[in-house]
Amino acid sequence: MKGEFVRINKRLDPAQTGTEAEKLQSNLKKRVVGQEEAVMQIVNIYQMHLAGMGDSGRPIGNFLFLGPTGSGKTRMVEATAESLIGDVRAVVKIDCAEFQHSHEIAKLIGSPPGYLGHRETHPILSQEVLNHHHTEKVKLSFVLFDEIEKASDALWNLLLGILDKAILTLGDNRRVDFSRALIFMTSNLGASEMLQPNLGFAAGEAARQQAAGVVDKKLDDKISRAGVEAARRKFPPEFINRIDKVVVFKPLGEAELRKILTIELSIVQQRIFNSANGAPFVFLLTEAAREFLLREGTDLKYGARHLKRTIDRLLVHPLSNLITSEQVRGGDLICVALGPALSGLTFYKTAEDMPVYVMAQMVDKSITLPPLPAADSKSPRAATVAARSPRR
Ligand SMILES: Nc1ncnc2c1ncn2[C@@H]1O[C@H](COP(=O)(O)OP(=O)(O)OP(=O)(O)O)[C@@H](O)[C@H]1O
Ligand SMILES: [Mg+2]
Repeated sequence: MKGEFVRINKRLDPAQTGTEAEKLQSNLKKRVVGQEEAVMQIVNIYQMHLAGMGDSGRPIGNFLFLGPTGSGKTRMVEATAESLIGDVRAVVKIDCAEFQHSHEIAKLIGSPPGYLGHRETHPILSQEVLNHHHTEKVKLSFVLFDEIEKASDALWNLLLGILDKAILTLGDNRRVDFSRALIFMTSNLGASEMLQPNLGFAAGEAARQQAAGVVDKKLDDKISRAGVEAARRKFPPEFINRIDKVVVFKPLGEAELRKILTIELSIVQQRIFNSANGAPFVFLLTEAAREFLLREGTDLKYGARHLKRTIDRLLVHPLSNLITSEQVRGGDLICVALGPALSGLTFYKTAEDMPVYVMAQMVDKSITLPPLPAADSKSPRAATVAARSPRR
């Protein structure tokens, strides 16, 4: 009958996440090693947005990421854009150190009508730029302000308006709406605090414990508190109050760097499949070669940045030389081993003329294969020939 309803008493589980949020979480975890706190906060805010529970007159989320260099702050933002929009280029990056003077601010918001160069300047922070990567399904923007401690007063004022009202007024008085944006701000501030004598121990100890697979919640909290306190001392309260989440990124330990090494090696292999002058080949490292790269690439102070530089220097540059000197060609299998003096890597060709489907079996499943030549599936040989032919 009309107006009747059934009373029940079913217990609900508010800790359960929706599938969209779960997808985001697993994508972030695949791309960024450690830094679970940041993953959790991004997923929470995204879930609030999906549920329509966010504050409508503000950006979807305002995040402040603190912590040492090379710990994944920028990578986390890129990974979020990659997961939600499918393109890291969707992140609008503002390096605050580059916008110190008023004429530089004009690059961000354009100059008022009548000013010199008014017509030529296309503001970096226009609505078109923010909406550029919107898709039919996902209308989100990602804005990253790097090194905010270097922002000038003028930039600071712009930032406060964006964080509070999701509005930016351009030089010509047009308004830019940031209510569909996730705003990320980064600073190394927490890092210098962590490396102070008493907490320097904490950071080093945290990395050592991570290496041993130990999670010390108290130590983590101590580092986080040091970061947040440093931020409170440095930034005015009206700024801190506008931030939804302050996350302190932890220094990376050996266990994390080991995982990042695997991710980075896959990225190098993917690059070879995507380009390498159109002649895809496979490289495999021996266990000793991996350990060597890890050893050379471990530096507490510079985190994964040092590891990436080491991979470039010891692996990517030599491979590039081998490609351009035509010692390595499409369809080759290159074995990378620890050299006889144990002080460098050596490169051997251990197979050639491999068709694409054989290469596919050798690499990680997450790697996208090079475009398959039409004849490849029928004739493995044809693929090899196609892979070898284009030479510049
Ligand atoms: N936690 C991580 N997981 C996976 N890769 C990482 C991680 N941290 C760093 N990297 C790798 O190192 C590179 C540099 O890291 P990233 O740019 O995120 O550092 P950052 O914390 O923003 O440092 P900075 O304060 O110097 O800007 C990334 O592009 C990524 O390849
Ligand atoms: Mg960064």
